[in-house]
Amino acid sequence: MNTLEAIQARRSVKHFDKKHIMTQEEINKLLTLAILSPTAFNIQHWRFVLVEDNELRIKIKEQAWGQEQVTDASLLLILCADLKAWEKEPHRYWVNAPKEVQEFMLPTIDGFYRNKEQVQRDEAFRSCGIAAQTIMLAAKDMGYDSCPMDGFDFEAVGKLIKLPDDHVISMFITIGKSIQEASPRAGQLPVEEVIIKNNF
Ligand SMILES: Cc1cc2nc3c(=O)[nH]c(=O)nc-3n(C[C@H](O)[C@H](O)[C@H](O)COP(=O)(O)O)c2cc1C
Repeated sequence: MNTLEAIQARRSVKHFDKKHIMTQEEINKLLTLAILSPTAFNIQHWRFVLVEDNELRIKIKEQAWGQEQVTDASLLLILCADLKAWEKEPHRYWVNAPKEVQEFMLPTIDGFYRNKEQVQRDEAFRSCGIAAQTIMLAAKDMGYDSCPMDGFDFEAVGKLIKLPDDHVISMFITIGKSIQEASPRAGQLPVEEVIIKNNF
């Protein structure tokens, strides 16, 4: 499947084969692809929580309006981000770059994020959004379907996964084998409505 086909074929699937188990190799492949997603200043601040514990999944489903995908999908990923990754040993993000690039990047990163809570938070959601689409398209190519989700109680789920204070949850992605086709697209806007030429 090429990229254009994956973009067209990806749909949010709500009904998954409960019995299907993804292999560890498949999960590794998916997550290895996920971390190739771009992040500003290469800070790679996404943190992917794989919910492997079935009891925990049930508790999470209770906080997600009982949505069946949470327990029926082969994989439940909770996309989180570390809001403070920019200050946690940032030399790691540029370790292979030439020295002069490192010398420019490290203070620039600090200046960009320090004392700017809103910027840190915006960046987290930008990065997780991009990673989410990477994951969903890669899953499609690997013969899987997915559903991005934010229909859940963020605070309650944060408690269940022991989310650190300096992290945020962005969304869930459920991944598995579809057993029911997605409904026809619900109502796509015409492209002209969403394209603004030059300015609003
Ligand atoms: C951030 C986000 C959160 C979503 N949350 C849910 C959800 O909680 N439950 C659900 O069934 N679908 C959820 N969806 C799926 C949307 O309903 C779906 O993407 C939209 O209707 C377009 O359909 P498509 O993804 O099949 O093209 C979510 C999608 C996004 C992008």
